[in-house]
Formats: sequence, C-alpha cells, structure tokens
Amino acid sequence: MEKLCAVVLAAGDGKRMRSARPKVLCEVLFRPMISWIAGSLAESGIGDVCAVLGAGADQVRAAVPDFSWVEQKERLGTGHAVMQAKAFLQSHRGGDCAVLYGDAPFVDSKTLMDAYKLHKESGAAVTLLTASLPDPTGYGRIVRDGRGDVSCIVEQADADEKTLQICEINAGTYWFSVDFLLSALEQLQPNNAQGEYYLTDVIGIAAAQGKRVCGYEAPNSQIAMGANDRKGLLRLNEIARQAELDRQLAAGVEIVCDDGVMIQPGVQIGQDTVILPGTILKGNTIIGKNCVIGPNTVIEDSLVGDGCRINACQIEQSRLDDQIKIGPFTHVRPNSHLMTGVKIGNFVEVKNAVVGEHTAVAHLTYVGDSDVGKNVNFDCGTVTVNFDGHDKYRTVIGDDCFIGCNSNLIAPVTIGSGSYIAAGSTVTDSVPEDALAIARARQIVKPGWAKARRMRLGPRKK
Ligand code: UD1
Ligand code: CA
Repeated sequence: MEKLCAVVLAAGDGKRMRSARPKVLCEVLFRPMISWIAGSLAESGIGDVCAVLGAGADQVRAAVPDFSWVEQKERLGTGHAVMQAKAFLQSHRGGDCAVLYGDAPFVDSKTLMDAYKLHKESGAAVTLLTASLPDPTGYGRIVRDGRGDVSCIVEQADADEKTLQICEINAGTYWFSVDFLLSALEQLQPNNAQGEYYLTDVIGIAAAQGKRVCGYEAPNSQIAMGANDRKGLLRLNEIARQAELDRQLAAGVEIVCDDGVMIQPGVQIGQDTVILPGTILKGNTIIGKNCVIGPNTVIEDSLVGDGCRINACQIEQSRLDDQIKIGPFTHVRPNSHLMTGVKIGNFVEVKNAVVGEHTAVAHLTYVGDSDVGKNVNFDCGTVTVNFDGHDKYRTVIGDDCFIGCNSNLIAPVTIGSGSYIAAGSTVTDSVPEDALAIARARQIVKPGWAKARRMRLGPRKK
C-alpha cells in the first residue's frame, strides 16, 4: 500500500459552541474530539498528518503532538483551510490524501479504510464518506447522478426545498487524489450563502471535469455525526456513552441502571463487576473482577484489583489491591497504594501513602505522605500532620499498631511496630516498637467545683 497522508481541519474557533477553547478540543467522553480522530488515523497506519490550526493552536498541538501543522489565519471556510496545507499536499503529489474534519470524532479506522478501498478500486478522483441520517439538518446534502456517483454537495444554507429533503449527508471525511485536489483548490470561489471557500465545491468541480466522485455510505450512520454546538456535543457524548456501555456489558460487566454511568473508552473492567449509578471511570483505569463500584464514584487513572467494594468515593492515580472496602465518602488522592484487605471508611482522605494489608482506617482521618504497615488500626479522627507550612514530611507506622482516637502524628515521625498511641495524643517524637505513647496533659478532677460555682453564680443562663 502506498504511504497515505491526511489533513485534519481544526481551525474552528468554537463560536457556535460558545466556548473559549478551540472547538476540536471540546470533549466527547472526556477525550478531545481531535484526539478521537488522531486515534483512528494511528490505527489506520496513517502517520503523516497535517492539522490546520487557528485560534488556540498551541492547545491543539499539545493534544495531537504527532501531527505536523499549518496555520489558517482567517477562517474563510473548509476549502480555504485545505489551501493552507498546499505545501504538505505538494510533497505528496502522485498519492492519495484523506481530509477529515476535527469536529466529527467517530470516523473509525475500518470505515476510513473501507472508503479508501472503494476509492482505489473505482479510480475516483474523490471518494467521500456519506451517511443517511433521520434528521439531516445542518449537514451538506449529497446529490447523486444517474450512475450513483456524487455530482455535488449542497450546504444547508444553499439548498432548495427539494434538496433539503435528501437524507444522505456529507460526513466531512474524504479521500482525494492529491494532484486533483491541488488543481481543484485553485478553482474554488466563495460563491455561496456564507461567502466561504467550501471544500465541498471540489466535488462539483470533479464532476464537471468528468472525473468520478464516489460516495461511500457508512454502514453505521452515527459515525458521521459532528458537533457544532453544545447540543450536538451532548448528543455525541450520549452516543459514545451508550456504545461504551454496550461494549462493557458484552464483556460481562453488570450495570443494573446506567443513570449517570460514564466509562471512557479504554477503561478495562473485569467480569461480574457491578457498576452502580453515578459512576464515572476515566483515563488509564483497570478494574478487576467481582467488584462493586458506586454509586456516585469517580475513578481516574487507577488500578483496582479483584473483589473490591468502592462506595461513593473519589480515587485518582492510585493503586488498590484486592478485597479492599472503601467508602462511603472516601478520597484517595494521587500516588496512594492500598494493599489487599484494607478498609477505609467515611470522611477519610489518603494521599501519597502506602497502606499495608488489612489495615483499617474507619473514619474521619487524614493519612498523607505516609507509609503504614499491615494490620494497623486507626481509631476515629487521626491526622498525619505532614506539612509545616513550608515543607512536607513522612509519617512511618510499623505493622500491628493501634492509633487511638483524635491523635496527631507530627511528621517526620516513626511509630514502631506493635505500638499503641493513646487517644488524644499529639505525637512529636518517634515511638519505639511495642510501646505505649501518651502525649497529652494528665487529667485533673476537682470534686465539687461545679456545684460550688453554681451556688456562687446562680443557675446557668438559658
Ligand atoms: C461541514 C461541511 C458539510 C458537512 C459537515 C459534516 C463544508 C462547507 N461543509 O459543515 O457539508 O456535512 O461539515 O460535519 O465543508 N474549519 C477550519 N477552517 C475554516 C472552517 C472550518 O479549519 O475556515 C474546520 C472546523 O474546525 C471543523 C471543520 O473544518 O472542524 C468543519 O467546519 P464547520 O464549520 O464545522 O462545517 P459544517 O458547517 O459543520
Ligand atoms: Ca461541523
């Protein structure tokens, strides 16, 4: 196969989206639209890609670092955008180039390459991806000739009543013979309702020259859909969400009610794991078998082992081994490792910490910058005091320790294995193994003090 290349149009400024960021960075299932396209191109083996960028070019380049790029200073239409890539196209003379729009993220590698196959077999100058949509409003309509080839594309704003009835639309994905595209771009004129240079007019130019233009109708029409505004973006999110849920269900994941369940493509979930409503799974996340996740849980860039129960928690960039029970209302912040059998309860925050096997942190506790051994019990309300206002320090707790209620462990500090910390202690010095540390004022009881006071001042005011 010849070395293929692609141009991705991404200079749109998101005006209709009413967004400060470039339109192509608007996200579908937590992934910028242009990154979906980059993924499909990479999967198709098309590595030589030129993006046409406008406002916010730096942000877009960061999202697609493997693309080369050119700038479109003024937004004068999709045809004008492709003109900016003239030098790129000239370096690919004699070959074929795909052109894709950065706001139509669902074009997959199979469809793209099936369209390419038709392009080569038919010897067409242009092959474009089409789809039949129940509601084609807003898209360019495909006009076919008697042979079934495409004779022109008519934009919504330029269409008459009869053309508006056509449900076959332009998906905004094309294969061009590079030599033909370069010559046709020279002939584009902004003679239309928007006063723009339309790339779609290249199709009419080909047909007028007697060249073939093939339309490859996508078997799944949804892959053609693009987003111009927030409503369109919501629709794409819903389609992508449902498709991902279907994939997970087919793989043996249990979802009894999918309200608010959003799973980013690429997240792996083991068999018989149950996902409850309000659960969002993002990034590089892998979840094991037989877990129950949710309700109302967010897990991002984390590894979760088998048999875990995670209820109403937020977990970021962390690793949880097997048989862990956490929540409700637990926050596991980045770089934490909870080992097998750990229990973490309500209103506990763990950050940058290792928590050893079968350790229990049941309630109202902060474990930050800490190395905690196995079988440790934290009573209610412990704080590892890791920050002195300038630097952060670690707390080290050995195995089998018992940390009494309402203790402050002022780091850097080490609690030796098997030690007890008395409730209410503020521990400033390290504690040796198997010791009891009591770090609080000794209680004084004054018998009769309260009664004497009452006698002196009278009954307490209400
Ligand atoms: C375009 C097509 C329409 C098709 C639809 C598919 C044209 C004239 N119309 O309409 O036939 O059905 O896409 O989604 O091509 N862009 C630039 N520079 C510009 C203008 C646009 O880079 O000057 C980029 C945008 O960022 C966007 C893409 O090109 O990613 C498409 O532009 P947009 O304005 O969204 O075109 P549509 O009106 O959706
Ligand atoms: Ca669009």
